[in-house]
Amino acid sequence: MWKPKFHIAPPHGLLNDPNGLIYWNKEYHLFYQWNPNGCEHKTKHWAHLKSKDLINWETLPIALSPTDWFDKNGCYSGSAIEKDGEIYLFYTGNVKNNDIRESYQCLATSKDGINFEKKGPVIHDRDIPKEYTRHFRDPKIFIENGIYKMVIGAQRVDLTGTVVVFSSKDLINWCFDKEVINGDFGFMCECPDFITDKDNSALLFSPQGIEADGDLYNNRYQSGYIIRDLEEINQNNFIELDRGFEFYAPQTFIDEFNKNVLIGWMGMPEELEHPSIENENWVHSLTLPRTLEIKNNKILQTPHPNLKKLRKDEITLENITVNEILNLSDFNISGDCYELIIDLKNLNTDFKIDLRIGENEKTTFSYDYKNKKATLDRNISGAGYDGSRSCSLEVLEKIHIFMDNSSVEIFLNDGEEVFTGNIYPNKNSLGIEIMTKMLFTIPMIKFFKI
Ligand code: FRU
Repeated sequence: MWKPKFHIAPPHGLLNDPNGLIYWNKEYHLFYQWNPNGCEHKTKHWAHLKSKDLINWETLPIALSPTDWFDKNGCYSGSAIEKDGEIYLFYTGNVKNNDIRESYQCLATSKDGINFEKKGPVIHDRDIPKEYTRHFRDPKIFIENGIYKMVIGAQRVDLTGTVVVFSSKDLINWCFDKEVINGDFGFMCECPDFITDKDNSALLFSPQGIEADGDLYNNRYQSGYIIRDLEEINQNNFIELDRGFEFYAPQTFIDEFNKNVLIGWMGMPEELEHPSIENENWVHSLTLPRTLEIKNNKILQTPHPNLKKLRKDEITLENITVNEILNLSDFNISGDCYELIIDLKNLNTDFKIDLRIGENEKTTFSYDYKNKKATLDRNISGAGYDGSRSCSLEVLEKIHIFMDNSSVEIFLNDGEEVFTGNIYPNKNSLGIEIMTKMLFTIPMIKFFKI
């Protein structure tokens, strides 16, 4: 009953990071960290799916299994790139002997996009510069001025987190370049990534061990970015990608429209109190694909345009006045799998929307007009984790919600902020209500069943 309808989730077992995202031969290939043997963080494989449209996915055989000396304790995260018509996957081979960790950056290639041949390590454990521990993983490859670059998440020997870069001319021989982070980012940085959008660029990564600071960094670990190129090492202004709860280790790729698109893991390391484990023997899913754009020193994230394909049974309400409370069920707007868009242009009062309302439960998104603060509250959502998360937001002009059985993603103002999280309400908690402090006329509400 908790399985998502339109998000990628494992058939059973544990899913974590999205890996190897690539648009290749007119198809999207997506891999994810998968433990097929149980709902713990163990025996990581690369599960494999492909799609023509990012919406309808076909499951393919497991691409990588932890069966070789250089990856025997897990085929950890990594990325994909095309070379000479083949898919090249780079991943971290995690090895533990008597509790001593070794880390190998490995290559596997495929001509047909189904069968992958492991080629072994391209950066050996012994090649890790002496300044770093064996927490050295998650290679993400991209090309810059004809040279291949690989960013890797690393830990310095003084147990602080950083990101390093290697370069290569042929994807086989790699040379250590430099460290590209200079700020204080906890004890480890996982899953780095790098994007360029017109004249702007951003370094993305998932630091572990940043202290909470007001509404910032409230989750166990963070995922975010710094707007900068690889050289601007002293630019440390870190911005969180998501303001909700479960969001970690995202990865980007370039889609059919030549845009950067991001998919994240809707989960958090070390947090496994999800009711789907006990009842249904699976845990975690991926976020929806989000198109990225860098504007005014910020990454904007909007739902990928192909998601419109999911829409069914449109209901549109125009110029509808809220007199304290508006019960959307009166207009046939309710459910557990849907897309809901609310235009709030000229909002001049406090706004609140309750989702998945049932007996004694609801999930609330609210906007405090005076204090300019947006909040997602899941304290009485149902089973699973509770809590609330907030962020400041100058104005609220639009809310775009995707509800999918046990998750919710809320995009604000065409991608200015996103709140993502899991909720586990009763199956028949389906109500939706809007509340405003003062009389307010909502220009437009659009609802689609999915
Ligand atoms: C992030 C992460 C990565 C690692 C993978 C192992 O969630 O810890 O650093 O490669 O998961 O599954």
